Amino acid sequence: MYSDKVMDHFSNPRNVGEIENADGVGQVGNAKCGDIMRMYIKVDNDIITDVKFKTFGCGAAVATSSMATELIKGKPISEALKLTNKAVIEALDGLPPVKVHCSVLAEEAIKAAIKDYYDKNGIAHDIEAPGCSCDSCCGSCEVH
Ligand code: FES
Repeated sequence: MYSDKVMDHFSNPRNVGEIENADGVGQVGNAKCGDIMRMYIKVDNDIITDVKFKTFGCGAAVATSSMATELIKGKPISEALKLTNKAVIEALDGLPPVKVHCSVLAEEAIKAAIKDYYDKNGIAHDIEAPGCSCDSCCGSCEVH
């Protein structure tokens, strides 16, 4: 059911944890399952020098976030903004259709973290970050 790459990133996820004094933090909730993802980024000269994530999501959310962080680390913000969940799924050699919604968390959390970075630094942008969509927790975390 899961590709070797999904199993690898699930069993041995890259970039898990949090970054102290992160330049941007994004938290999103998955409207479909209620799971939560938080993404931390460090930015230097428009380059994402470090990225870490924490999630209450399932194994597919862990694997897609792990791959997504690998894909944006060391890249310019403009490239990270273009990362889609589809590209992450392709990099993982596919996901079962029922798990595709899990991959959206990583893409949205990255956008939310970049939006936070831009907002904190007074940089104009047009990112429509979805933010936390879980009604029961929204407003109660330290991010929003
Ligand atoms: Fe919620 Fe996968 S079931 S992130």
